[in-house]
Amino acid sequence: MNYYYITGTSRGIGKAITEHLLEDEKNFVIGISRASTIFTHNYKHFPLDLSDVDAVKAFDFEHHDDAKKIVLINNAGDIIEIKRAGHHRDSTIIDSMNINLTSALILINKFMKTYSDVTGKKIIVNVSSGAGKHPVDAWSAYCAAKAGLDMFSQVVAEEQKITGGDFKIFSVAPGVVDTKMQEQLRKTDKNEFSRVDDFIEYKEKGKLYEPEFVASVFADIINNANKIDEVIFSVSDYAKSKSTKVKPKKEKKKS
Ligand SMILES: NC(=O)c1ccc[n+]([C@@H]2O[C@H](COP(=O)([O-])OP(=O)(O)OC[C@H]3O[C@@H](n4cnc5c(N)ncnc54)[C@H](OP(=O)(O)O)[C@@H]3O)[C@@H](O)[C@H]2O)c1
Repeated sequence: MNYYYITGTSRGIGKAITEHLLEDEKNFVIGISRASTIFTHNYKHFPLDLSDVDAVKAFDFEHHDDAKKIVLINNAGDIIEIKRAGHHRDSTIIDSMNINLTSALILINKFMKTYSDVTGKKIIVNVSSGAGKHPVDAWSAYCAAKAGLDMFSQVVAEEQKITGGDFKIFSVAPGVVDTKMQEQLRKTDKNEFSRVDDFIEYKEKGKLYEPEFVASVFADIINNANKIDEVIFSVSDYAKSKSTKVKPKKEKKKS
């Protein structure tokens, strides 16, 4: 069996990746998020609030004697509060770092500890963002967290080379995807977020990726993990490199 631990499976990209993987009976998914929305025999839900680091510290990965492949996908993420520095509450900065960075790093560390002696394929995929590479107005904590996720991934990859380790790790930006996160961005006050019109235009002009397309690219990355040398890349770059048609984006609805 192939075992996948995926955070943020209740909706959006994480749910689409999970549903894509569950089509194969050889895959078993353990989903981690606050809400549970998938009910099928090869899926198990573990309710966890990733802002609660003590709860994350108490989480244990299971041992799977029949594992051919074990994968951790750190997908859960939340911009939480779209405000400029100087206007945040302490608590939202802490929540942002916990959900988008600290909990993901704790899970990576536990995953590597638990499965260091397992002989099957061991893959970690972090769902990053262009926001970890380029500053975005009013997203400072989220940008900082995604940049941290990228750097942690690069260091782990470097360590695996130095020690001859057999974990593969990637930090992959999904592109602009039609999920609840995008809805939240479009609703923000223009005075608090200078790029709100860009995000409204992405939706209106049909420039958003569908979560199902992004999910199929993530599945392809996992299936070809041993052939990929890069650690940091985007869904769009990967799809182009595979000569895949980069766009099942949503068609613009005719009015
Ligand atoms: N959509 C985009 O355009 C875009 C662009 C770049 C990067 N990303 C990244 O892609 C990933 C998925 O985003 P999405 O667009 O699919 O967002 P989404 O539709 O809002 O889904 C977010 C998922 O994360 C989970 N989550 C959020 N806070 C959590 C918490 N405190 N504890 C546990 N789980 C939590 C949610 O589950 P519960 O609410 O049930 O807990 C949900 O399943 C994120 O890492 C995001 O940063 C998205």
